[in-house]
Amino acid sequence: MINLNVDFNLEKASIEKSELELLVPELEKAHRLLVEKNGEGKEFLGWLDLPVNISKGLIFDIQAEAEKIRNKADVYVVIGIGGSYLGARAVIEALQHNFISLLSQRKSPQILYCGNTLSEDYMADLLEVLDQKDYCLTVISKSGTTTEPAIAFRILRAHLEKKYGKQEARERIIAITDKEKGALKTLATEKGYKTYIVPDDIGGRFSVLTPVGLLPIAVGGFDIEKLIYGAKKLRHQLLNSHDIEHNMAWQYVAYRNLQYRKGRFVELMVNYQPNLNYLSEWWKQLYGESEGKEGKGLFPASVSNTTDLHSMGQYVQEGARLMFETVIHIENSNKKVNIPYDTTNNDGLNYLLDFSLNEINHKAEIGTSMAHIDGNVPQIRISIDKLNEENIGELLYFFEFACALSGYFLGVNPFDQPGVEAYKNNMFKLLGK
Ligand code: PA5
Repeated sequence: MINLNVDFNLEKASIEKSELELLVPELEKAHRLLVEKNGEGKEFLGWLDLPVNISKGLIFDIQAEAEKIRNKADVYVVIGIGGSYLGARAVIEALQHNFISLLSQRKSPQILYCGNTLSEDYMADLLEVLDQKDYCLTVISKSGTTTEPAIAFRILRAHLEKKYGKQEARERIIAITDKEKGALKTLATEKGYKTYIVPDDIGGRFSVLTPVGLLPIAVGGFDIEKLIYGAKKLRHQLLNSHDIEHNMAWQYVAYRNLQYRKGRFVELMVNYQPNLNYLSEWWKQLYGESEGKEGKGLFPASVSNTTDLHSMGQYVQEGARLMFETVIHIENSNKKVNIPYDTTNNDGLNYLLDFSLNEINHKAEIGTSMAHIDGNVPQIRISIDKLNEENIGELLYFFEFACALSGYFLGVNPFDQPGVEAYKNNMFKLLGK
């Protein structure tokens, strides 16, 4: 059964039924372009069928490699940037213990990320840690030529070889890249690293269910088969419903594009769990890079409540009316914490004893939602029952499918990113490349 639910209330979304009905032909057209694979960028639609196409052999191989790393390393370093690390990090952070680095007894290596920044201090700090820890690394780059991960890999490769010797270093490195081209592929072949392939027809930001996401997620100790199963269930639902009452991706795409057409150019993803912050980062990349082109596209932003109600909350409630919200609602917590009874009630909190902390969090969510509707901030709510692999798999596929659909609806190619070249060209010139 599908767990994900889109709570699309027209009043809360500030949408008239007639406005919605007018969009149906455009939604049908975008849906056809996507599932019949006729749209721009159709050569990058491998992710669409990935949950049903991925081979058992590949999954077992990834699980076996992950187990080796889990048995061997205290720290596991993922080198990659953009789509080559955000999906893995989103899933790992959503599912792992919030304070894993401080747990003295943990079953999984601590996962650290690099190659996503050029900060010298960050790299120096990482090396200081790696001097003291047993570690393995995976370098991920589809093109195999991206500067940030390439520099990080050169530095860590040298560190690893010095620390363990060339042969053992080779055993501790896995490369995930193109099947034949790019500097990383050449290096991996020359050095004999274990390698996984990023399929030609899957772009970085849609690659979370390839080895790019699956290997780090499995090293984190999470069940990648359940993740894929969640995506598979949602794929079936989204590909096969052709009306706005039943297709949740159509509802989300209609909602966000209507807001855009009405001049609300910022979509704010709202969570009430800090461990979903990287899901927001993944979503921002997915939508920002897929739609932000040709002078078009919503600006994806995010807040984490209730933390940000005490900072950005003021702006959302009363600032310029630029935005609408997409709230991620998690119905149940995985763990329980009691609020203790206090005989003195000096802090005046005894009135809360009938509620769990999760219920109090929900009341904050509902109260915020009511206040924002009063403040003219439209909303849609996407909910899952709780954070687990299967439900996260549904969420990932939901946002991927809706993103591609939304791109076609907007009239752009959701699978290219010509704009990211501009900074690189300048940087290379400045560096004398
Ligand atoms: O979605 C994308 O295509 C990008 O964000 C890439 O993932 C990112 O630029 C990293 O590219 P590569 O994997 O080639 O190093």
